[in-house]
Amino acid sequence: MEVKFLTQIGTGSSATQVREVLLAAVKAIVQAVGERDRYTRHHSQNVAEYAKIIARELDLPSEQVESIYLAALFHDIGKIGVPDQVLNKPSKLEENELLLIREHPLIAGRILESFGEFRDILPAITQHHEHWDGSGYPFGLIGEAIDLGARIIAVADAFDAMTSDRIYRPGMPQAQAIDILSKGAGQQWDPRVVNAFINWWEKTYNPRGRHDWQMKHIQTIYQNFLKDTTGGKVLLLDEKEIEQFLKPLQCFAELPIENGLHLSWSRQLFSDWLGELGLDQVYQQTYQLVFSELVSNMLKHAEKGTIQWGRNSAGEIVLIANDQGQGFVLEKLPQSIMVSGFSTKKSLGWGLPFILEHCRQLVIAKTESGTFIAIKLGCEQIEDMGQTI
Ligand SMILES: [Fe+2]
Repeated sequence: MEVKFLTQIGTGSSATQVREVLLAAVKAIVQAVGERDRYTRHHSQNVAEYAKIIARELDLPSEQVESIYLAALFHDIGKIGVPDQVLNKPSKLEENELLLIREHPLIAGRILESFGEFRDILPAITQHHEHWDGSGYPFGLIGEAIDLGARIIAVADAFDAMTSDRIYRPGMPQAQAIDILSKGAGQQWDPRVVNAFINWWEKTYNPRGRHDWQMKHIQTIYQNFLKDTTGGKVLLLDEKEIEQFLKPLQCFAELPIENGLHLSWSRQLFSDWLGELGLDQVYQQTYQLVFSELVSNMLKHAEKGTIQWGRNSAGEIVLIANDQGQGFVLEKLPQSIMVSGFSTKKSLGWGLPFILEHCRQLVIAKTESGTFIAIKLGCEQIEDMGQTI
């Protein structure tokens, strides 16, 4: 059958012409699928473009880029064999309907294997729903056992699906889809492929925020770690969230801290302020030590910055350090917390365990100019005294 077909087309035609005719035939099937499923009309074309971008970003040879582009264009061709009522069902699919949908990579394989010309792109098509961790279909392949083209199509497919409008939901913003891809790297998707795609996306759409996603990924790991070790006392924020955090704060004093010159002066001012609140001596001393730890650390790693303090609407004392430099290294936070036997008299280091012991919450954000640190200190005594404030 295959030979006869090729012979008929091939009479008096070059191999390129044969391929052109076959391409036109398969594109017609892609078009037919698009006609039945209007929400995916542009989907195959988009996925093919994204797949080509990823393949280029991975520095694959141009022939391979071309093959992956074709495979991506035809990846959902098997949907031609899925009944209309299943393909266009707006509500959740039943188990038996899911089984029918999940047939489409294999149906595509059966359609295309009759064209010898496309045999090299078959694995990329039949495996495009496999997951990096082995939880995909139809074969349950794991990691690099999955065809590279299929791993690329999987990322391109997911991104376009998430960002496109459907009848039952609008498409999500690209940045949100990028976030989901970064979280699923190493689980659903090949991390190297996700990395290539996000690098391209950030170069193209988010040049100022490059590597944000890697920072977010690290933050998620640390956040989970910190939640366990500090009972959720440590909060890591994005730079954008700082403004939100600062909104409800009031009555802040702000002092420049430079080269250690103002340290004793700022300590004195803070101490006077605490005195005015009518705090017990024990509270005052503890909070002064927290203040010293914060400022000393800031000066140790950054040339200058500002320190602010005041109270929020919950009556808590809030200390804020904005250092201009590398006052705090996110990657070292877990180690700092693990330090035991810390003594504030012997060390002018970060003193994180000491601060954590005495604070209600520690808020940290990386900014373009340095680090933002806020410490919330409880003030039970003031709350108890009520009318004296
Ligand atoms: Fe698919």
